[in-house]
Amino acid sequence: MNLLIMGPPGAGKGTQAANIVKEYNIPHISTGDMFRAAIKSGTELGKEAKRYMDQGDLVPDSVTCGIVKERLSKDDCKQGFLLDGFPRTVAQAESLEQILEDLDMNINTVINIKVDNNLLINRLVKRRICKDCGATYHLDFNPPKEEGICDVCGGDLYQRKDDNPETVENRLDVYAKQTKPLLDFYREKDLIQNINGEQDIDKVFSDIKSILKGIN
Ligand code: AP5
Ligand code: ZN
Repeated sequence: MNLLIMGPPGAGKGTQAANIVKEYNIPHISTGDMFRAAIKSGTELGKEAKRYMDQGDLVPDSVTCGIVKERLSKDDCKQGFLLDGFPRTVAQAESLEQILEDLDMNINTVINIKVDNNLLINRLVKRRICKDCGATYHLDFNPPKEEGICDVCGGDLYQRKDDNPETVENRLDVYAKQTKPLLDFYREKDLIQNINGEQDIDKVFSDIKSILKGIN
């Protein structure tokens, strides 16, 4: 099963991606997570990506497409994959077409999580993430049992640097201008499945499972 998950910042892509990859046993390929890992380990890629991410701008397509190509070429993607946060521009989508053609693969479904802008800011500024295992929480909607501590592994929770109100506003703007037009690209290919992301986390996941039924 080769899947894309799309939606604006804070729509719940990462939250649902974690559920999907567990259920279907496919690798989760998140360009945002890959860049954050590179920043943490202080690589050249990390230094380049940080300049853009801290402002809420997109990392250049040439850099992003290169890391995705490398990742999709690994053996574990032969059984399927879930791409999260990529593609984000029409140029990235075109590049993905070429990458997949070279690897003799295609996309089965694009899951598009829809959430109104007025809910997204609150979701992002109150998000907390485990520094050890990456589990995602929300202070109101999905709080950890113990304040500041991950339920899964006991690690400390932190707030992403780009989850402040000013940067969030720019990220939403960038999404509207550069990523939303991409929905037409996949609509024309008849691949989009819209999901109402304003429901609670479990209901969103059960809707996703319903559309994935029957896809191999
Ligand atoms: P990336 O890491 O991809 O971030 P994003 O797209 O901004 O999305 P988020 O991770 O912020 O949100 P999400 O939809 O995963 O929401 P989540 O599940 O956490 O990208 C970051 C940056 O990296 C970009 O700005 C860019 O600079 C760079 N980058 C990455 N990919 C790139 C690319 N392809 N090209 C160029 N640059 C790239 O949920 C959010 C919160 O809401 C959580 O607290 C969660 O608990 C809560 N929540 C989730 N679902 C629900 C629900 N149903 N009800 C209530 N609360 C919910
Ligand atoms: Zn953890």
